[in-house]
Amino acid sequence: MSTKLVCRACGSTKLRLGFDLGMLPLANSFLSTKRARDPSPEPRYPLRMFYCNDCALIQLLDLVDRKEMFDDYAFLTATANTSMLHFDQYAEELRQRLELNTSDLVVDIGSNDGTLLKAFKKQGASVLGIEPARNVASVAIAAGIPTLNEYFGHVSVERIGRGKAKIITANNVVSHVPDLNDFIESINLLLSPKGLFAFEVPWVVDVLRHYNFDIVYHEHLSYFGFKPLSEVLVKHGLELVNLEYFPEIHGGSLRGIAAHPNIFPKQSETLGRVYRDEGRGADYSALEQFAHSVQEFRGKLRHLLLKLKREGKRIVGYGAPAKATTLLNYCSIDSSIVDYVTDTTPFKQGKFIPGVRIPIVAPDEFRKLAPDFALLLAWNFKDEIISKEREYLRSGGKFIIPFPEPKVVGSDS
Ligand code: TMP
Ligand code: ZN
Repeated sequence: MSTKLVCRACGSTKLRLGFDLGMLPLANSFLSTKRARDPSPEPRYPLRMFYCNDCALIQLLDLVDRKEMFDDYAFLTATANTSMLHFDQYAEELRQRLELNTSDLVVDIGSNDGTLLKAFKKQGASVLGIEPARNVASVAIAAGIPTLNEYFGHVSVERIGRGKAKIITANNVVSHVPDLNDFIESINLLLSPKGLFAFEVPWVVDVLRHYNFDIVYHEHLSYFGFKPLSEVLVKHGLELVNLEYFPEIHGGSLRGIAAHPNIFPKQSETLGRVYRDEGRGADYSALEQFAHSVQEFRGKLRHLLLKLKREGKRIVGYGAPAKATTLLNYCSIDSSIVDYVTDTTPFKQGKFIPGVRIPIVAPDEFRKLAPDFALLLAWNFKDEIISKEREYLRSGGKFIIPFPEPKVVGSDS
């Protein structure tokens, strides 16, 4: 682990600590049964959010070795229907902006299991994924999506060829990048003169105003607003031509589209609104307010769960996203409160949530054991999950929706 108090976007050293979440385990390092039974503690690392006085980027500066985090990754895009639909529409929208043909190359950075590239392939483009997690890259390759198993950077550009990519996509990747300047510089080199770079990041204003502190974990190094992002792009010869807002994706995401300057008209109406909202919604005092509200949230959630427990209720967790590790560990919720967590991802089933060591089971177990309350840890898929679990609700089961503040939802509410 290393800590360097220098802003990842603008290089300033005027950084202020805004929120210290304490020492937490790595969010995606799910434990095997053997490891969970071993009483020796797992590695924990500081989780601290800093604010850059010069460019306003909110960021983590305690860096955990990437090998520890990404070599074997637990997230597969195709496990959630909401994401698949989102990506199909995404590919279609980009295709409408540029007429793609088979000689055009689409590169997806952080391509995961190849879900987005499959949509582009259907449209007749050549595709190439870049995915550092070995296990995930091999899922994509087996499904016919050519994939480089590496981190994107200058070396990838030389391998693929300068100016070769007509479209570059990077969803929930830019937030993970330690050397932001090298990354954007490499995008500039790879992008063809009339190409587009599309990326998605959770929007910092939503993270702060909805108290979504569980999105904070060691992999997420930057919490972007439009201002710091557009400044980095400009520094490396790119400009934002469009910006869209998706309130449903990861609690509120921005999709930016960038290009070489003066090629595409600037289209966005969102640009002005987003910029205005960030003025106060993502400054240092907003971060301080967030820290305060999150501490209150911890108290409220624990109070509710302990009260239910005293009444003899059976509580489980629903979904084991990386976010669940932050939420459960920060709120000190372990298996004395939550019996187990259910998750659809086979890779996670039979393992344990890092730190709090709560067992993860398949959804059949959830249906069989029908608990009284299910804490919705995958809250970003709330609608999908609630409609899937109508039977659970009808038979008297209730969900606890954590954000913006813990709320019980049953069939009558
Ligand atoms: P994400 O928030 O990082 O996309 O992860 C969502 C997690 O929630 C993933 O591990 C799969 C799990 N999940 C379920 O267990 N059931 C569901 O119905 C959905 C939509 C997700
Ligand atoms: Zn800065």
